[in-house]
Amino acid sequence: MDKIIVQGGHPLKGEVDIGGAKNAALPVLVASILCDGENTYTNVPNLQDVKSIAILLTSLGAEIDAQDGLMRIDASRIKNHEAPYDLVRKMRASILVLGPLLARLGKARVSLPGGCAIGARPINLHLKGLARLGASIELKHGYVEASARRLKGNDIYLDTPTVTGTENLMMAAVLAQGTTVISNVAREPEIVALAEVLNKMGAKIEGQGTSILKIEGVKSLNPVSVEIIPDRIETGTFMVAAALTGGDVTLRNCRADHLKALIHNVGLTGATIAAGLNRIGVVGGKEIASVDVKTLPYPGFPTDMQAQFMVLMSVAKGLSIISETIFENRFIHVSELKRMGADITVSGQASMIQGVPKLSAAPVMATDLRASASLILAGLVAEGETQVNRVYHLDRGYESMEKKFVRLGAVIKRVRA
Ligand code: EPU
Repeated sequence: MDKIIVQGGHPLKGEVDIGGAKNAALPVLVASILCDGENTYTNVPNLQDVKSIAILLTSLGAEIDAQDGLMRIDASRIKNHEAPYDLVRKMRASILVLGPLLARLGKARVSLPGGCAIGARPINLHLKGLARLGASIELKHGYVEASARRLKGNDIYLDTPTVTGTENLMMAAVLAQGTTVISNVAREPEIVALAEVLNKMGAKIEGQGTSILKIEGVKSLNPVSVEIIPDRIETGTFMVAAALTGGDVTLRNCRADHLKALIHNVGLTGATIAAGLNRIGVVGGKEIASVDVKTLPYPGFPTDMQAQFMVLMSVAKGLSIISETIFENRFIHVSELKRMGADITVSGQASMIQGVPKLSAAPVMATDLRASASLILAGLVAEGETQVNRVYHLDRGYESMEKKFVRLGAVIKRVRA
């Protein structure tokens, strides 16, 4: 297994290009299932999760051609309606094929994703929503088996604004007969991006970016050419890295309007942030001030930035409290950060972080994607050489992260297994 070795103590300086968003790419690529003909996608990030979704789509019968950020997907000959356990267990987001398969083929058999390191992550709201659209749903042998001759529009209320749940239901409803209104939907930029792609295909969706979506079903959709939006979590990770190391970094090809909560809070820590069109400049302050944050659905502070922000607070002046309200077990990075000298106490869904003057390097290992990123950030400011193990988590969601850090002056390398 690959490792990343970081020598701490080098402020980051320079410019870095942000890639396409993993969590926008996954549903948008899956949306190819909904139409005949060749869809063309650009700015597709070269990530393990994107490879996993391409393998799944290919196994369903889609034809895929991918190179250098360009992906062509033609699902005209899609015939298989099953997403097997072996693919779904590698990536929970595989559940995204459930709604589109049902809409396109009238049936879908998808392995239940199960829990993951950060929480139980049920899919009950995906299933309840599809049942409201007229699907008959059974759980058998660890699989969801869904069928419907043609889905029918209906009112759906989501008890919690689930991101992939909203995406699944949106993709099912676009081909349903009649009108669907989904209330309390997620408002993430990735939802807006998917709705825009579907509308470009000929769907009739209104309300994206608000908490109510109105979808008028259409009979068929057409293929499209679209560019994947920039990854706001990669952007945020580099912003925090710049503030943490007292650096001076400009992020290119990113969207400041997708990161208001993070920009606000990193600004409160003492960094100077200049947000322009497609660019964000971050200059670290002399000292890092402690700031309390609480993760919330968009436009609140993103749970996917909680671990990275905690590293910043670990070396801030004073005490801060970080509350995690989205996932019940998303403090798994804390024990590794403590091994690097961080002073953190977890109580339920809150972490109390007493800033320390310095972290000290250690061999550490990550159990999920954003936790891996946080350990690399910790390594950037720790005294000595940090060894981050289980880098495959990182490769699921960050493209060449260590190479981007090297260009910014960090002393970091990957050791191949
Ligand atoms: N929930 C339910 N029932 C459901 C669905 C969700 O109770 O049917 C709960 C979850 O247990 C959780 C909350 O609702 O407590 C929110 O979960 P959500 O469904 O929104 O998460 P997700 O769609 O599984 C996506 C991202 C995650 C990101 C979350 C929250 C993708 C592929 N994944 O997951 O990204 O953390 O939204 O913003 O879009 C990551 O990239 O590292 C990552 C984990």
